[in-house]
Amino acid sequence: MISTQRLVLRSLKPSDSERIAALAGVWDVASMTGRIPYPYSQADALNWVTGVADGEMVFGIDHAGELIGICGYSREGNRVAVLGYWIGQPYWRRGFATEAARALIDYGFTKGGIKRFIARHFNENDASARVLRKIGFRTSGTGMGWCEARQAEFAVKTYDLRRPWTTALKSTALKARAS
Ligand SMILES: CC(C)(COP(=O)(O)OP(=O)(O)OC[C@H]1O[C@@H](n2cnc3c(N)ncnc32)[C@H](O)[C@@H]1OP(=O)(O)O)[C@@H](O)C(=O)NCCC(=O)NCCS
Repeated sequence: MISTQRLVLRSLKPSDSERIAALAGVWDVASMTGRIPYPYSQADALNWVTGVADGEMVFGIDHAGELIGICGYSREGNRVAVLGYWIGQPYWRRGFATEAARALIDYGFTKGGIKRFIARHFNENDASARVLRKIGFRTSGTGMGWCEARQAEFAVKTYDLRRPWTTALKSTALKARAS
């Protein structure tokens, strides 16, 4: 569990699937992600919740005791992870994605053994671009990415964030104290 000023990032349970389907099964959310289908049923969400793969860290984002979104990362090679997130539309523009992603990245760098995060968003996704830049990501290139909801490939921008050396030192100190 990861706590921030306003949010709790926690592991998912099968009973979250109804709310996940309702919030992520909205076109403006699903169509901006790579993997969420549209329409998105509760059965789809349940399948996803119960099938989270090894090497994937996935957290439900709770605000005031309610699930408002998901964030997580999956490993792509040694010590490299791909960041992902979505926030339900009623909760947009309140800084929640930035707050959750920042906490998740800090967790990955200090406790998860991650040295580099990568992220990508579809070109038109200005909101995600802003979130990534606010938490320190730099653009690293362009490419094409599959969109499950739209059933096609679209242009993406790619980003990169390396673990700061100050965090690396903190992480080593934590390990030394624990041993
Ligand atoms: C992208 C997303 C997670 C942002 O969530 P959010 O909680 O609204 O983001 P925040 O409130 O932390 O906003 C961060 C910044 O983005 C800006 N922003 C938010 N929505 C925006 C929009 N539609 N266009 C331009 N900027 C936007 C905010 O103003 C804020 O910048 P500021 O602090 O300089 O004002 C949310 O819009 C979403 O879930 N979209 C659909 C799924 C998705 O795109 N996931 C990411 C896939 S890469």
